Amino acid sequence: MTGASGNGSKANATRWIDLRSDTVTRPTPDMKAAMMDAEVGDDVWGDDPTINELQAYAAQLFGKEAALFCPSGTMTNQIAIKVHTQPGDELICADNAHIYLYEGGGIAFNSGVQPKLLPSDRGRISAAQIAQSINMEDSHFPTTRLVCLENTANKGGGAYYSLEEMEAISALCRERGLRLHLDGARLFNAFVEAGYGPAEVGPLFDSISICLSKGLGCPVGSLLLGSADFIRRAHRTRKVLGGGMRQAGFLAAAGLYALRNNVERLRDDHRRARRLGTVLSGLPFVGGVAPVDTNIAIFTVAPGWDPKAIVESLKSRHILISTMAPGVLRLVTHLDMGDDDIEAVVQALQQLAATGEGKAAAAADGTKAAGSAVGTQGGQNGAGGCGYGASPAAVVSGAAAPGANAGTGTSD
Ligand SMILES: Cc1ncc(COP(=O)(O)O)c(C=O)c1O
Repeated sequence: MTGASGNGSKANATRWIDLRSDTVTRPTPDMKAAMMDAEVGDDVWGDDPTINELQAYAAQLFGKEAALFCPSGTMTNQIAIKVHTQPGDELICADNAHIYLYEGGGIAFNSGVQPKLLPSDRGRISAAQIAQSINMEDSHFPTTRLVCLENTANKGGGAYYSLEEMEAISALCRERGLRLHLDGARLFNAFVEAGYGPAEVGPLFDSISICLSKGLGCPVGSLLLGSADFIRRAHRTRKVLGGGMRQAGFLAAAGLYALRNNVERLRDDHRRARRLGTVLSGLPFVGGVAPVDTNIAIFTVAPGWDPKAIVESLKSRHILISTMAPGVLRLVTHLDMGDDDIEAVVQALQQLAATGEGKAAAAADGTKAAGSAVGTQGGQNGAGGCGYGASPAAVVSGAAAPGANAGTGTSD
């Protein structure tokens, strides 16, 4: 598929605007040049100078002793959980956390740990909630060992933590002897928006995972950050999981390029997502729009309109969006698009509203076709779906309906 920005586009090829996720970006010519120029070596031997440079750069940025380059954010999260825990332990996280919903049951599979799920404020949990959820020292209970936060929160529609809340959670974990991990797949989106940075956030956590392959625009790669001893153990676990790579400095070079060049521009993604959110909130097929805090705009589909038809109608205009949950659609902005692309999306959304082509098929005869469309999309989640009557805030917090976080929705 040829993208909107022209990265890799061929003359006369179809131009697509892909808002499904910020994972869909292709390396820009400058990033590719940096990759091709990389000096490489065998990283399993520790010989890749570019990987070593990236790890040292990121560790220094966050004030951590060491870092480990891995193929994916799933791997960095799962390694962290494994290193921090013992089988039979419990970890605390939000009920819509990526580590719980979208990592293939890895908490149980890799670490034999059980999660204690807390209802969240758009993916965020509080120090007060955590304090109430720590098991007492008693052989009946699993040992509460680890707390995992996600910032920004994917299922929370890109919501970010305040520095104060992270500080309170960090202080609590230290006081109660718990380890604290941050899934920072989109942490740099929080940095440009929230007014804090790696120097403030780094010391609060025992381990941090950051993804290079999302808003930062790399094709592959995540980094795990922590103490020298933690990273030494993480290195061993990465090997066990088959994540030792050889001349991966070509990929690390993209990471260095991204950390040096692609952070500030995340503000553009946020501005564009807000523009989409504002336009969406005035359209008849939109039930409600969740707050747009960073680069993710989520909306519920209004009664009488068919989410699937809306997705298909946009697709026929070469615009791709994703289904996040039954009756809930998501648009994510990223570096493979510009202001002109956003205006093209705005125009397409307005056309849909004007033509009514996203209307549910049976709506014309007065039956509640849209309701059934949502119901059938729900799949295993079944009962209730979460589109109608649910506010977008309820959807992203997971409070809309049983199963609203699970099933057919997007994960990335
Ligand atoms: C919040 C969050 N954490 C972790 C991941 C996993 O990253 P990866 O796709 O690199 O495994 C994702 C992926 O989208 C994510 O959104």
